[in-house]
Amino acid sequence: MALLLRFVLLCGVADFTRSLSITTPDQMIEKAKGETAYLPCKFTLSPEDQGPLDIEWLLSPADNQKVDQVIILYSGDKIYDDYYQDLKGRVHFTSSDVKSGDASINVTNLRLSDIGTYQCKVKKAPGVGNKKIQLTVLVKPSGIRCYVDGSEEIGNDFKLKCEPKEGSLPLNYEWQKLSNSQKLPTSWLSEMNSPVISVKNASTEYSGTYSCTVTNRVGSDQCQLHLNVVPPSNRAGTIAGAIVGILLALVLIGLIVFCCRKKRREEKYEKEVHHDIREDVPPPKSRTSTARSYIGSNHSSLGSMSPSNMEGYSKTQYNQVPSEDFERTPQSPTLPPAKTLASSSLFFLDAA
Ligand SMILES: *[C@@H]1O[C@H](CO)[C@@H](O)[C@H](O)[C@H]1NC(C)=O
Ligand SMILES: *[C@@H]1O[C@H](CO)[C@@H](O)[C@H](O)[C@H]1NC(C)=O
Repeated sequence: MALLLRFVLLCGVADFTRSLSITTPDQMIEKAKGETAYLPCKFTLSPEDQGPLDIEWLLSPADNQKVDQVIILYSGDKIYDDYYQDLKGRVHFTSSDVKSGDASINVTNLRLSDIGTYQCKVKKAPGVGNKKIQLTVLVKPSGIRCYVDGSEEIGNDFKLKCEPKEGSLPLNYEWQKLSNSQKLPTSWLSEMNSPVISVKNASTEYSGTYSCTVTNRVGSDQCQLHLNVVPPSNRAGTIAGAIVGILLALVLIGLIVFCCRKKRREEKYEKEVHHDIREDVPPPKSRTSTARSYIGSNHSSLGSMSPSNMEGYSKTQYNQVPSEDFERTPQSPTLPPAKTLASSSLFFLDAA
C-alpha cells in the first residue's frame, strides 16, 4: 500500500518536471571582488505550460540577519529590478529575450556583501522550476610587501618576509630566486611555501633578487626583494661613511644659510645708503663699511657726489655690516628705528 502510494507520488512529480525544467545544474561560483558574476539559469518549456511566464531571482544573503530578497523579476513580459538597494543597478538579465529560455543574470562590480545563495524560480503553470547557485566573493591578494627583517651580514640570522595587505584565505606563498643560479639555497627549501623564510648563518651566496608570489583562488600578486649579504666590517664602514656624509651635508647647509643671511643684511644696508644720497647728505667720514657692489650698481645716481666723497666709499671694507649707530645719525633725524627701515625707504623715495 505504502509502496503504491510512493509510486503514484513519483509519477505525479515526474509529470510536472517533464513540463518545465531548468537545464542548468545547481552550482557554486567563486569570483573576485569587483568582477562580474554570471549566474546561469536556462529552462525549457513544454506545450502543456500554458500560464503566463514568471521568473524570479531571490537572494538569501550569507549574513543571517538579512531575510530573503527578491532581486529581479520578469513578469507580464516586463523586467523589474529595483527591489534590493544593495544590488541597485548591478543586476541584469543577460538575454535580451528571456522567454526564449534564458533567465541567466549578471551581477556586476561584486562586493563582499553579495555573498549568498541565489535562487532562480521559473513558473509557467502548471510548470515550475527552481535552481540554486551559491556565490562566493573573494578578495585577490594585493599590496604585497617583501622585506628583510634583520641585518644582512655574513654569519647572521635574519628573516625574509612576504606580507600581502589583503587577500581572501587560503593564501599560497611561493619564494623564488630570480638572479644568478635561480636556485633557492637548499636550507630554505622547507620554507619556500611559507610567508617567512628564516635564514641561518648567512653567506654571500645568498645575495640576489628574490620574488614572493601570493596566490588564492581568484588571483595572485608578487613582490621582489634584493638581498645583499656583506661582511660585518663592510657594513660598519658603510654606516660610518653615511654618517660622515651627513655631517658634511650639515656643514654645507650651515655655510649656505650663513652666506644668505649675510647677503640679505648687506642688501638692507645698500638701501640705507640710497636714502643718504637722495637727501644729498654727504657720506659720513666715520663710517667703516659698505658693500663693494654699491659703487658699480648705483654709480649713475651719484651725480652730485664729488670724487673726494667717493673716496670714502671705495675705501670701505666689503665684509663689514653696518652698525645700528649709523642708522640713528643726526644727519637723518627722521629715520625710524632699524626694524622698520625697509618699509620706510619707500616713503622716502616717494617724497623725493
Ligand atoms: C555577463 O558577464 C560575463 C562575464 O562574467 C560577460 O562575458 C558577459 O558579456 C556578460 N553579459 C552581459 C549581457 O553583460
Ligand atoms: C656558518 O657557515 C660557515 C661557512 O659558510 C661555516 O664555516 C660555519 O661553521 C657555519 N657556522 C655555524 C654556526 O653553522
